[in-house]
Amino acid sequence: MRWGRGSGWRVPGCYLAIALLAMPVAAAQTPSRGELVFYAAGCAACHTDVDNHGPPLAGGRALETPFGTFYSPNITPDPVHGIGAWSDEDFVRALRDGVAPDGRQYHPVFPYTSYTRMRREDMLALKRYLFSRQPVARPNRPHALPWYLSFRPLLRVWKWLYFEPGEYQASVDKSPRWNRGAYLVQALGHCAECHSPRNRLGAIDARLRFAGTRDGPEGETVPNITPDKQTGIGGWPRGDLAYFLQTGATPDGDYTGGAMAEVIDAGLSHLPVTELQAIADYLRSLEPIHHVVESTEQSSSERARRKDPWD
Ligand code: HEC
Ligand code: HEC
Repeated sequence: MRWGRGSGWRVPGCYLAIALLAMPVAAAQTPSRGELVFYAAGCAACHTDVDNHGPPLAGGRALETPFGTFYSPNITPDPVHGIGAWSDEDFVRALRDGVAPDGRQYHPVFPYTSYTRMRREDMLALKRYLFSRQPVARPNRPHALPWYLSFRPLLRVWKWLYFEPGEYQASVDKSPRWNRGAYLVQALGHCAECHSPRNRLGAIDARLRFAGTRDGPEGETVPNITPDKQTGIGGWPRGDLAYFLQTGATPDGDYTGGAMAEVIDAGLSHLPVTELQAIADYLRSLEPIHHVVESTEQSSSERARRKDPWD
């Protein structure tokens, strides 16, 4: 068994009880649109330095990649160290085009490659929500990158090759519900950013989108979430998938760990069940891709021993 939390949390019943206790509370208060976008998009996970008990959204979290270590910036409304002085247009441009107010290009480790699909009104609702949070005067830490990657104009080339900006376009031949799920997965949840293999320049391999990878964030193995019966989640009962997205509990009674536990705790678990169901239904409508990512010798107990972000 593997647990998503540190030693104080290693009792499954305890985790479950808390999840169950939290549910009526979450159902009682209707979150604002900005809050929904915030949780669905998982902004807190990267922008909070959980390991070092950093204040929420104040950045400083280390993100190890094959290209070097990035430190997430402060996105609290502090006007000096955060984004408190940003206009609506500044914020929209960062998410839509991956460009800073001063014209600097952002590295795609900030998944604007997915957020670009967000609707403008959702971006603005998200900004209002972020601006209602506690400002924190904490300076940003520079990334630790090789010199040639610190040269941001080069990112224009990467973007020209791999980045297609633009809002999500609904498929007219699909139901509104399907489109809702697609929007949640593609634009907000940015699930493909972790659940797909990447090429040497860090771009998603389009043929294996959602089919999992052994080289996920922080070197984690990320499972295939296409509905392939053998190598994906095709065997999961419908309700189990939405339940997993809410609680982290897999159909075989295991609990998810690593990055997915963060995605759930800091984000998906706060969403109404209807939204999670829409995500689950969309995933099940994907083309099944047969793609093995987990080697047999990598047992779940072995995975449990890897670095746990909650420790
Ligand atoms: C996978 C981790 C990750 C997630 C998820 C993420 N970010 Fe970021 N974000 C980063 C990193 C890393 C940077 C710095 C990029 C750079 O320096 O090129 C960044 C940069 C930013 C910036 C620019 C800040 C500045 O000072 O220039 C903003 C604004 C931002 N993110 C907002 C968000 C919002 C809003 C969300 C949720 C919708 C979000 N981020 C989700 C990692 C992430
Ligand atoms: C930050 C990276 C990251 C993001 C973003 C992410 N995942 Fe995951 N996901 C993982 C990792 C890592 C695992 C495996 C965790 C483990 O080993 O227990 C996982 C596991 C899963 C599983 C369990 C599959 C199985 O076979 O056990 C499902 C289902 C899943 N993710 C769905 C999603 C969906 C839907 C989204 C988008 C809303 C998403 N994930 C976003 C990293 C991510």
